[in-house]
Amino acid sequence: MATERTFSIIKPDATRRNLTGAVTTLLEDGGLRVVASKRLQLTKEQAEGFYAVHRERPFFGELVSFMISGPVVVQVLEGENAVARNREIMGATNPANADEGTIRKIHAESIEANSVHGSDSAENAATEIAYFFKPEEIVG
Ligand code: TYD
Repeated sequence: MATERTFSIIKPDATRRNLTGAVTTLLEDGGLRVVASKRLQLTKEQAEGFYAVHRERPFFGELVSFMISGPVVVQVLEGENAVARNREIMGATNPANADEGTIRKIHAESIEANSVHGSDSAENAATEIAYFFKPEEIVG
């Protein structure tokens, strides 16, 4: 498997609890490398655009409110099989179902305040990376 890139967000519940380093360490210990990173306060429009695929879901409004409730850290992660590897390191969407040792098992507060986002396919990773980063901001 060739080196691949994926997109990650450290969500407001984690930045609020000063867990940016703790979350990043789990990503790095899992074999991924941070090749771009910035801390942002998302606007409502940015959050709605990012989660547009979920627009019709009942939790959409609360999800957007949560994502703009504090700073996030957006990152590009690189490594072997990075999309799938990141999903393993993150754990299941609902922390109650997440495996031991995963970011969401260790740190998430709820299914909504679940500490991290990670792209679910290589195609979505490319779209999500381009949503937040210019090519020159990514340094592998
Ligand atoms: P989803 O893409 O299903 O999960 P994942 O983040 O694991 O890829 O959902 C996106 C986000 O929407 C999820 O991280 C948290 C939020 N969400 C809720 O708030 N309630 C829900 O019932 C679901 C399924 C998701």
